[in-house]
Amino acid sequence: MKAKIALLAGDGIGPEIMTQAVQVLHAIAQKFDHEFQTTEGLIGGVAINATGNPYPDETHQLCLNADAVLFGAIGDPKYDNDPTAKIRPEQGLLAMRKKLGLFANLRPVKTYESLFDRSPLKEDRLKDVDFMVVRELTGGIYFGQPSEVTADGLNSVDTCLYSKEEILRVSEMAFDLAMKSKKKLTMVDKANVLSTSRLWRKTVQDMSAEYPEVEVEYLFVDNAAMQLIIRPSQFDVMLTENMFGDILTDEASVLPGSIGLQPSASVGDKTAIFEPIHGSYPQAAGKNIANPFGMILSVAMMLDYQFGLKNEASLIQQAVDQALNDGVGTPDLFPENQQGTDEVANWILTYIQQAE
Ligand code: IPM
Ligand code: MG
Repeated sequence: MKAKIALLAGDGIGPEIMTQAVQVLHAIAQKFDHEFQTTEGLIGGVAINATGNPYPDETHQLCLNADAVLFGAIGDPKYDNDPTAKIRPEQGLLAMRKKLGLFANLRPVKTYESLFDRSPLKEDRLKDVDFMVVRELTGGIYFGQPSEVTADGLNSVDTCLYSKEEILRVSEMAFDLAMKSKKKLTMVDKANVLSTSRLWRKTVQDMSAEYPEVEVEYLFVDNAAMQLIIRPSQFDVMLTENMFGDILTDEASVLPGSIGLQPSASVGDKTAIFEPIHGSYPQAAGKNIANPFGMILSVAMMLDYQFGLKNEASLIQQAVDQALNDGVGTPDLFPENQQGTDEVANWILTYIQQAE
């Protein structure tokens, strides 16, 4: 097949892991006879430096014209430590999600037996962990207006706002995923306190009538945070709103042993985006220590979800599985073996090239 892919490397370790992931993409193209045409665009801090805008129009056009987007990471400590900065790298990511209508963020969580001893959790809790978090991505407190400091500077407000329509479309996606999986859906909210959560719960309750085969369970977010540690294997598809999903997926990423392993897909109205869930990790930028697996597995997710290329995706997953079995990985996983980002990614490349 032929496809156009936009590459938005972004900030921090973004460019390093993107370089490696693109090599993997090309290795797959060569092996399976596909043609992926890649074009680079600016987003985040690097886009602010070059254009003053964290999501320039040119980048938006590039995304609109692409069949899929690969995205690295965003963020720069220069802005994190300056709460008064009016323009911030993260605005680029949020603008991209909103303008492309990417209302669902799919974040798979699975553990690897070969890494059980690397996880802060005991082994018996890590067995059979394989679930998907469906995080709503373009609503809630991230986008609700007003969001501002009062003129006297003494008060500040953020608004959590959800329409029934916004809840319906992402919930439908979560129910469909549950139907293709173990047919269990866990809705996470704070319906004992928040009005938006009660709208979520009511909407999901109503929708569950259309999916009689799916077992639906409701958890308050504080309890869900605890259950993720106590018995993570109980989950199949977890559905939640924007900010709860942000927090819970960082928590869940601890299960396999490193946040650097986790890929994700953001899907909705226009071009879908595939990105690792970790941030820009500025302390590691340029040091050749960033874990490339999250980005490489995001390529696999793109091949699978966007292009239906199951064999290609599973070859990448197989390569990563084998690497972990063989103890090949960056210092966040295997501090003892001192392998750099490029060495680890090259191992994956060779595996793919030599696969039967
Ligand atoms: C994520 C990130 C973003 C978010 C930030 C960088 C705006 O943490 O993708 O999880 O909060 O959505
Ligand atoms: Mg996050």
